[in-house]
Amino acid sequence: MTFTSGRVLVAGATGGTGRRVLDVLRRTDAEVVVRAMTRSTDDERRLRDGGADEVVVADAMDRDAVSTALEGVDAVVCTLGSSPGLDVLTSDRVDGTGVQNVVDAARAADVDQFVLVSSIGVGDSGPGMSLGLRLLLLGLGILSAKRRAEDHLRESGLSYTILRPGGLTNADPTGDVVVGEGGDTVSGSVPRADVAGLCVAALFTPEAANRTFEVVARRGLRGPPEGVVELDWRTTPRSAAADPTGDAAEESESAD
Ligand SMILES: NC(=O)c1ccc[n+]([C@@H]2O[C@H](COP(=O)([O-])OP(=O)(O)OC[C@H]3O[C@@H](n4cnc5c(N)ncnc54)[C@H](OP(=O)(O)O)[C@@H]3O)[C@@H](O)[C@H]2O)c1
Repeated sequence: MTFTSGRVLVAGATGGTGRRVLDVLRRTDAEVVVRAMTRSTDDERRLRDGGADEVVVADAMDRDAVSTALEGVDAVVCTLGSSPGLDVLTSDRVDGTGVQNVVDAARAADVDQFVLVSSIGVGDSGPGMSLGLRLLLLGLGILSAKRRAEDHLRESGLSYTILRPGGLTNADPTGDVVVGEGGDTVSGSVPRADVAGLCVAALFTPEAANRTFEVVARRGLRGPPEGVVELDWRTTPRSAAADPTGDAAEESESAD
């Protein structure tokens, strides 16, 4: 199934990538109602100013609250992640259980498309993360939690796209990302803004359905890329104006 219009829930909307997803959704021509999910009512004003039409308060670890937050939702962009600090000392992680709760609620709501931001380093993309960081995140249980969440989404029956970015930066968007498929493909860094653009493009790009991609910025590439895929990424059901890879605009112009 392909998402074309309707209500999009952004889980992790207060985070670095989630805020940028709100911004991209605000600027898309698509007919979407944007619902931001947050843990705190204090964030409501900021989220509305950032592009949310609706704000729901739900802790991702609370299944009932998440079910309520997903009512009436047609698509999900999930950028949830453990926050630095005491969160990392818990064994029940938002990266695992929290994301799984969102997936289960999305299945109950029969959503059309689910986009999950995971990470290079998870599962078969392990070699793309430096060994030191991989050992740290393995020790903290973050990579295994993310892997459980990825597997849960793949097995959910939902139409999904999993994006595994490299190291995230707060730099301006480059609009030039390298997307690999197959696990051990690309390595390096990528601005959150580029990942946000790709999250929204994945909602509207039928070819991205039921696939898992590794993503870095071309200028952040470390080592030679393998398994690079070129997709006709679309930021709305019809146009490709803000194509994050720079490929689709050209193709779309020639197609029209
Ligand atoms: N940092 C990197 O270099 C890197 C690299 C690759 C992939 N990633 C992954 O990419 C994703 C996005 O990263 P980011 O740095 O943009 O994220 P971030 O800024 O840390 O934001 C994480 C979001 O998750 C929310 N969250 C955490 N626990 C929650 C809970 N129990 N219930 C509801 N919301 C909760 C946070 O809400 P609050 O505002 O309430 O805390 C925040 O909105 C994450 O999955 C991250 O692990 C990160």
